[in-house]
Amino acid sequence: IPVNPFDLVIFGATGDLARRKILPGLFHRFRVGQMPLESRIIGAARSNMSGDAFRDQVRAALEEFVAADQRPSDDLAAFLERLYYVQVDATGAAGWSELAQLLRPDMIQAFYLSVSPDLFGSIADQLSKRGIATPDTRIVVEKPFGRDLASAKALNADLLRSFDETQIYRIDHYLGKETVQNLMALRFANSLFEPLWNSTHIDHVQITVAEEIGVAGRGGYYDRSGAMRDMVQNHLMQLLCLIAMEPPARFEPNAVRDEKVKVIEALGAVTPDNIVRGQYRDWNGMSGYPEDAGAPDSRTESYVALKLAVANWRWAGTPFYLRTGKRLRTRASEIAVVFRDPPHMIFPPMEGRKGNALIIRLQPDEGITLRTTIKEPGPGGMRLKEVDMDMTFADALGSDLHSQDAYERLIMDVIRGDQTLFMRGDEVEAAWSWADPLIAAWEESPLRPVAYDAGGSGPEESLMLLHRDGRRWRAIG
Ligand code: BG6
Repeated sequence: IPVNPFDLVIFGATGDLARRKILPGLFHRFRVGQMPLESRIIGAARSNMSGDAFRDQVRAALEEFVAADQRPSDDLAAFLERLYYVQVDATGAAGWSELAQLLRPDMIQAFYLSVSPDLFGSIADQLSKRGIATPDTRIVVEKPFGRDLASAKALNADLLRSFDETQIYRIDHYLGKETVQNLMALRFANSLFEPLWNSTHIDHVQITVAEEIGVAGRGGYYDRSGAMRDMVQNHLMQLLCLIAMEPPARFEPNAVRDEKVKVIEALGAVTPDNIVRGQYRDWNGMSGYPEDAGAPDSRTESYVALKLAVANWRWAGTPFYLRTGKRLRTRASEIAVVFRDPPHMIFPPMEGRKGNALIIRLQPDEGITLRTTIKEPGPGGMRLKEVDMDMTFADALGSDLHSQDAYERLIMDVIRGDQTLFMRGDEVEAAWSWADPLIAAWEESPLRPVAYDAGGSGPEESLMLLHRDGRRWRAIG
């Protein structure tokens, strides 16, 4: 379904995110007919460049990041015709009137700030003080949204000086992933799971985001962040919220986000014995973190595992175990909801029983698996066996699923004016309020992260988090 025509200004249009994600995403939406022909994409950046030079850069980016069979030359040429460039000085006077001239009052207007967060405030101020923004203007910002509560509050204040919260779209690209959205459908469009979705029936939840890539190439940023700031405070927190939240009364941005904030606010404090920080070391020909990050003595963690309690009526007694790390054996993200055993077993005990579980695979290979217990076929008596009832979305729903990236969906939601999948200011602040003491305690402690082998399955210590509770992580990869 096409959206209404729009003018989208991308500040930082020559940067990495724009080249890898934003522009390829828009191109896909254009190809499938969702981006109307009258729309304009206006690149804005510091460099002095002609429109043609900008279009050449975008063409090169699309050639690099869009598969050849997905970019027929007619479509590419037609897309490039919709592109404009203005040289704008984010903190000075140059370029703003040229930008204003390219914007059409009867179109939806969105400004994507794909720039360093220190520029959010001045760009927002300029847009408002120069009369470029209207009450309907949308402003899109990217993570990192702060590095602690104080900086996140300052960024919120910077934006809120010129814009209303209803105009601000804070992207967490995990919320744009198909399966992540499906979590809400799974929970709230079925009557099957929700009655069991509480600590009476759920033993524990595991959330895993394992990455194969290391930090090479972005060590400068990463070494000042670490996995807590880079992944846990945002992406894993969002996944946790979607699993743990109460059903909102309506599928509306504020109704959904109110429920998510309540989950974050219900998180109990995490004691040091419930958190494991790791850093990968060179192994088997693969370089280690210090080399990749260019930071020989770094104490930055590239892996975190933690055990969390959501202290409310629904979840008291059901731990949530989270883990994420770089340079692991494989790329695999999933959520496993593990159910309690039946209260009374009438069959002979089953060796190695893992129990019922609902596994939601986010990537790769998106899908849902329900692990159930059945009778082993054959005349051997009432012997039990666990089998997976598996639904891989690509098989069940066709391959279209894979052709949409999270950014494409989210950008189209911006144009539609739907904030449901974007983080509200208070949500980001609540997540920092939770993460700040953990990060501060770590920064003050003399400990080093535990080492794990590059290409392995993470630190041994993270196994202990579950072992000591009589549980185990699901194997990944
Ligand atoms: C980003 C992090 O937000 O998410 C990266 O900054 C990480 O460090 C990436 O690699 C993971 O995203 P995805 O979509 O590849 O799982």
